[in-house]
Amino acid sequence: MLNRIRRWPLRTRLGTLVTALCACAMAATAFAWVVSGDAAVIVTVELAGLTGVAVISTAVVRRELRPLERAADTADAIAAGEFGQRLTVAATAPTTEVGRLAEALNRMLDQIQTALSARERSEERMRQFVADASHELRTPLQSLRGYAELYKRGALPDTAAVDEAVDRMLSEIHRMTRLVESLLTLARFDEEDEADLEPVDLSRIARDSCRDAAAVEPERPFRPDIEAGVVVLGDEAQLRSLLANLLGNVRMHTPSGAPCHVEVRTTGDEALLRVEDEGPGIPGDAVAHVFDRFYRADKGRSRARGGSGLGLAIVAAVSELHGGRISLDSAPGRGTRVDVILPLPHRPAREAV
Ligand SMILES: Nc1ncnc2c1ncn2[C@@H]1O[C@H](COP(=O)(O)OP(=O)(O)OP(=O)(O)O)[C@@H](O)[C@H]1O
Ligand SMILES: [Mg+2]
Repeated sequence: MLNRIRRWPLRTRLGTLVTALCACAMAATAFAWVVSGDAAVIVTVELAGLTGVAVISTAVVRRELRPLERAADTADAIAAGEFGQRLTVAATAPTTEVGRLAEALNRMLDQIQTALSARERSEERMRQFVADASHELRTPLQSLRGYAELYKRGALPDTAAVDEAVDRMLSEIHRMTRLVESLLTLARFDEEDEADLEPVDLSRIARDSCRDAAAVEPERPFRPDIEAGVVVLGDEAQLRSLLANLLGNVRMHTPSGAPCHVEVRTTGDEALLRVEDEGPGIPGDAVAHVFDRFYRADKGRSRARGGSGLGLAIVAAVSELHGGRISLDSAPGRGTRVDVILPLPHRPAREAV
């Protein structure tokens, strides 16, 4: 019974209590009037009854408002920066005003804390991104400055040395241009929540990309296995850039004689795009990081070839914007396989994440 009463809203409980106490006081007064009929006794009983009503009501109201005081203390602590604090709901039933208030505030605090943590993580990522980008740009800039100073000091003895310096400067400029383009692409992807998707013929894009790659490296055995007419919901330019990055990796990180397979097919209600090579593969501890921005499994060699470690991050961002999934499987000596799974048009793209 007491537990049932505790579940009543505060206003009902206090109203019932005060009404019951007043009724008792009135009953006591009536009893004194019937039993003694003495005015002094009646007044004394009535005063005692009213005092009792006042004392008991004050005590009960104080007790009932204690959770609110605790809530106010907790709110002060939260305002002072202790974001982990929560109002204790256990002491009060969730049907009461205080219980509902505590639950609503706790839910709101959880949401605020999640949003704050997400913002902190995103700011940290952005800081890291800017630091890495600056670091990457500093290397070619230093190199350009070095060659320019050599030239100015007259330290390049003949035309051959000047030509070589200009070639090196041009190659550094190309590297910086590629890096800035990749950075802009990633920054654009970071801004977009989802790509502007429309039905796109993935088979055609894959065939075109293989043809382009074969034209650049005619000596590499290309083995396309492309099912005709696989249409996905996508952004054609982004999907082309995804394939260019994967095929660029085969070109950059495997010897030119290593065969490359490109496969496109449907599997259930999804499309599979696979790029696989028989190159040297990636060491086990590096595989988990290859989608990180600026990560290179073989720093020296990749950088020397102009790689900035952003290609696979772009590939991952494109597949995410398409509501797809990506996986990379590789081991030293066993080659590398990248699978991109994209939803087919009849399925809403976002559901597939
Ligand atoms: N097919 C592959 N074979 C061997 N290693 C690879 C292959 N693809 C990627 N890697 C490794 O993964 C790293 C990350 O690849 P990613 O494409 O992100 O950067 P990158 O190719 O070095 O530079 P970028 O693509 O920005 O020009 C590479 O540096 C390379 O070490
Ligand atoms: Mg790459």
